Amino acid sequence: MLIAGNWKMNTDVPEGRALAQVIADRLSTEPQSFEGVDFLVCPPFVHLPAVVDALADSSVAVGAQDVHAEDEGAYTSDVSAPMLTSVDCDYVILGHSERREYYDETDADVNAKVRQARAHDLVPIVCVGETLEQREAGDAESVVRRQVDGTLDGVSIERSEDLVLAYEPVWAIGTGESAAPEQAQEMHAVIRSDLTERYGADVADGVPLLYGGSMKPHNAHGLLSQPDIDGGLIGSASLAADSFFGIAEEAVEVLEETAA
Ligand code: PGA
Repeated sequence: MLIAGNWKMNTDVPEGRALAQVIADRLSTEPQSFEGVDFLVCPPFVHLPAVVDALADSSVAVGAQDVHAEDEGAYTSDVSAPMLTSVDCDYVILGHSERREYYDETDADVNAKVRQARAHDLVPIVCVGETLEQREAGDAESVVRRQVDGTLDGVSIERSEDLVLAYEPVWAIGTGESAAPEQAQEMHAVIRSDLTERYGADVADGVPLLYGGSMKPHNAHGLLSQPDIDGGLIGSASLAADSFFGIAEEAVEVLEETAA
């Protein structure tokens, strides 16, 4: 189970470092409590060195929230994959709906970034998800299929650990209204079958499929209990250690129930 925090454009560097430190401290005082749960935090770019440093002795992985498709060059304000790997960043969120909406990122743009991430051994967390309008028009599944196909076009994955997918219905992000567990599962099954066609069951079955969109401690259990939901990409609830760990505790319960 992968519990990932997407901090978006929140916290300044000292606050971000402090949050990472609280996470590291809690895991070091209770190492047994979260068995089976992998943690990941994705802070803003400028936080990365401080957060990587605060988490250095922990098992928490660190990711960025975007990357440029080129290695270097005249791209004012952008951040490259070699820059990310140089600060020991392992993951990168790509194609988040906020990037698609505010920066007009297309599936082709995201695809170029996914290829770039893979070329530099960064694990892409590829985000897909339909808008409310698309869902109401009955197009949710075709939209998500198209996004998966477009963003993963020509991307070869040999190991399940090389890729993460996040289903984030746009209408659920930051709204407090998460998808119903069955609704989310339905879409995760679609994504899993697409990945199976693409990479074979051996690889596809192990690719973590995260649900994102108003995941909170109170709704995490139902979502994480679904067979094709392997974790969460958590926005606002990842900004406080209590709610972040509250979701992780639900993940542990689900793992225990599944094992029983
Ligand atoms: P939210 O954000 O949990 O605040 O809805 C999730 C995301 O956008 O990754």
